[in-house]
Amino acid sequence: MCGIVGYVGRRQAAPILLEGLSKLEYRGYDSAGICVNGDTPLQICKEKGRLRELVARTDNGAAVPGTVGIGHTRWATHGVPSDVNSHPILSDGGKIAVVHNGIIENEAKLRQILIGHGIHFQSQTDTEVVANLIAWYYDQCGDFLTAVRQTVGQITGSYALGILCRDYPDTMIAVKKDSPLIFGYGNGENFIASDVTAILKETRTVSYLDDGEMVMFRADSAAFFSPEGTPVEKKRETITWELAAAERGGYDHFMLKEIFEQPKALRDTIFPRIRDGQVVLDGVELTPEYLKSLRKIYLVACGSAYYVSMLAKYTIEKHCRIPSEAMMASEFRYCEPVLDGRDLVIIISQSGETADTLAALREAKRLGARTLAIVNVVGSAIAKAADSVIYTWAGPEIAVATTKAFSTQLAVVYLLTLHMGKALGTISDAEYASWISGLETLPDAVSGMLTDVHLQQIREFAARYSDRRDAFFIGRNLDSAICQEGSLKLKEVAYLHSEAYPAGELKHGPISLIEDGTMVVSVASGRKLFEKTLANIREVKARGADVLCVTLEDFAEEVAQQADGVITVPEVFPALQPSLTLIPLQLLSYYMACSRGCDVDKPRNLAKSVTVE
Ligand code: G6P
Repeated sequence: MCGIVGYVGRRQAAPILLEGLSKLEYRGYDSAGICVNGDTPLQICKEKGRLRELVARTDNGAAVPGTVGIGHTRWATHGVPSDVNSHPILSDGGKIAVVHNGIIENEAKLRQILIGHGIHFQSQTDTEVVANLIAWYYDQCGDFLTAVRQTVGQITGSYALGILCRDYPDTMIAVKKDSPLIFGYGNGENFIASDVTAILKETRTVSYLDDGEMVMFRADSAAFFSPEGTPVEKKRETITWELAAAERGGYDHFMLKEIFEQPKALRDTIFPRIRDGQVVLDGVELTPEYLKSLRKIYLVACGSAYYVSMLAKYTIEKHCRIPSEAMMASEFRYCEPVLDGRDLVIIISQSGETADTLAALREAKRLGARTLAIVNVVGSAIAKAADSVIYTWAGPEIAVATTKAFSTQLAVVYLLTLHMGKALGTISDAEYASWISGLETLPDAVSGMLTDVHLQQIREFAARYSDRRDAFFIGRNLDSAICQEGSLKLKEVAYLHSEAYPAGELKHGPISLIEDGTMVVSVASGRKLFEKTLANIREVKARGADVLCVTLEDFAEEVAQQADGVITVPEVFPALQPSLTLIPLQLLSYYMACSRGCDVDKPRNLAKSVTVE
């Protein structure tokens, strides 16, 4: 969602801000803008639409002089996407400029109070309340920092704010609560950003602001304050990954690049955690006594990560014999779950900042449950708030629709299951050894699914079905959960109406929608349930569906007698099979999106990090 970047230094700010914003485009946005404090105070350039329009209008920033500035990509919440609602937002009278990520919950009340003070509003945004409140306090006290502090004391909700004041041409203030914000240290210059990708070209040394913390900075100095206003020393961290990881390389889209990065991401996630044939989860203490005392495991997440939770539910329950339940974070947080210290809540999130997932984590902690997070972004809010963390080493994921983060989340689920199953004695030594060798060869098996022959086959299917309006995905057990992910991908990137159903549930409703030419994707990789899924394929075929089936090589011949297209995957250790059936489904969505001319990496209305409820 919204992205923030800020610069104070000696170079021209606008080109740096625009470059930073281009790296934040992936978060999802509908308008963009910058504000530069230079000879012309608080000069604003902003508009609805893509960043490239702003880049063209300002001659890539060259037309906007000044060395202090803030930039923003906006994903509309309060007020439609429009020029006037774009950020930066100026206060009435133009003394204060603000960029904001998050939602001010008490904006309506504050707006009325400010209107009562004779202040005029131009936009429909909640951010304008912040700008006007700072300006109002500033008029009373004459001090920028005090005015921001007083404002922060009044607003509720979530925010990361970058703030400029006309009377402080060399200074910026930034503050955050429940929305991410990092501070970057340069040489005679300093930066703020929503995430490191925006400033990685400029600096690798950063500090992560904690909730309620504020920073006031100039080109050569930065003063950090606790929520109570006392000075704090911030730990400096060094970003180790390469900028190339967040660039497209030779690929047409980030999504394809990230699909291809899966073998490496799996290696990076799995290999350091297998030592001498044993799973080692550093920093995660799950003793046999603790695991035996567990009443239940909840797996909580949003979007694709929720489907990892579904796969985890099947896997953990089967192999560890602990009752497990997958829940969407947006439901979990309000369903009054029965939770206490006897329960473990596993939170899964790529970004580590999804608002509902973070709130679910806090709710679980409030109720006394232990929390364990599976997160990709180091230092993110969820990673910090959980009792313990297992990082997925997928590297930066830029395409809105997740691929490699999903694969690595699943890999962590396997490691965790093995670790717990061994401690509990529910996984035998022989099974453990087969599972470990399956994990060690999994990255190569995924590589094997990314050959030209496979790609060409799936591209042909995608072209053949690209004119369809509806799709149904069917499978059973692990195949059913992977179908959910395949279906979501197709909706997200190819804008195709798509539903996933456990194949056994088909006759309880959705079969009424199957008619001539309906596209059905079936996944039939489980040996035990193969015949049953095949029967379901026959049922939809009998009603005119065009069926594409992802199955094991051993079953290909039999499936070919029923289905219109067959994609085979190599057979691996059964619990790991979803990591392979996933790949053709990702590629199918990708190629369908390309055939249908969709904006693959930035699908309409979607955001990479959903930082509002
Ligand atoms: C958005 C993204 C999805 C992602 C979901 C959860 O909807 O488009 O790809 O699965 O958020 O995000 P998280 O960062 O918590 O995994």
